Amino acid sequence: MLQHVLSPFRRRIPPISTGCRTQTFSTQTVRPVQPGPPKRVTTRSLQLMKQQGIPIAMLTAYDYTTATLLDAGGVDAILVGDSASNVMAGHDTTLPITLDQMIYHASCVVRGVRRALVVVDLPFGAYQGNTLEALNSAIRVMKETGASAVKLEGGQHASAAIERIVSAGIPVMGHLGLTPQSINKFGSYKVRARAVEEQSRLLSDVKLLEESGCFSVVLEKIPWQLAKQATESTCIPTIGIGAGNHCDGQVLVVNDMLGLCKDFQPRFVRRYAELADVISGAAQKYTDDVRCRDFPSNTESYDLSWNGG
Ligand code: KIV
Repeated sequence: MLQHVLSPFRRRIPPISTGCRTQTFSTQTVRPVQPGPPKRVTTRSLQLMKQQGIPIAMLTAYDYTTATLLDAGGVDAILVGDSASNVMAGHDTTLPITLDQMIYHASCVVRGVRRALVVVDLPFGAYQGNTLEALNSAIRVMKETGASAVKLEGGQHASAAIERIVSAGIPVMGHLGLTPQSINKFGSYKVRARAVEEQSRLLSDVKLLEESGCFSVVLEKIPWQLAKQATESTCIPTIGIGAGNHCDGQVLVVNDMLGLCKDFQPRFVRRYAELADVISGAAQKYTDDVRCRDFPSNTESYDLSWNGG
């Protein structure tokens, strides 16, 4: 089953050991993707990928066009992150974005995706009040966007909300470590869990999220040794951002990895393109062409005898 949701590469599957079971897989050939509509990635697919030691690739997206391109690129999961508050709306934090705005972004993304699992962040203020509020927010996301799962931040304090959402049949991804919705408590975006006490809290929170029913958990900006220990201690896939190479998968904010935000270059971001230069360069060339009346040319104009489209 999983063969349909994987890229056509011959992969070396390393042995893995989790708290749940130990499985050993030898080198296996993954057959090319079948023709026809691609098979949807599900929460179960991600679980199988963890069990088989196949890393999960996740990126954020906030709009239809980007989502179609990322899906075509073969990412396994797309997160409609509340980082939209920063990179789409220009706020300093993720706090201002509303549930209605998240639903708008998520419905645009879902229309562009055929294969990847789409996960939507519940924004600040949409789930912290009480478990019924959390459930109602998650139901709105599922009904109004067509996404497959929600994500929310926090450990012990979030577990009751997670249980209630999961009991309604809605898959939940957790988020631990640096949780940007709590920036006013932390006071900075520095690496989390450097102190032993916070490390043991994170490890027990991972277990608690698993027991509360989360299908996966994001680990943000923590030392890689801790992320490795967390990954080995849980049955659910861990998705790292600034958490090293031992997580079950990785997620990046798409604007960062495409080089759209030139002034934001933290250690954990690898840039796969320099689109800021490409876009500014194109805008500059267009402006020059308009100013010197090079654009539009005759072939880019309609004359009186035109009868095409
Ligand atoms: O909102 C977001 O983009 C996120 C990722 C950083 C994991 O939560």
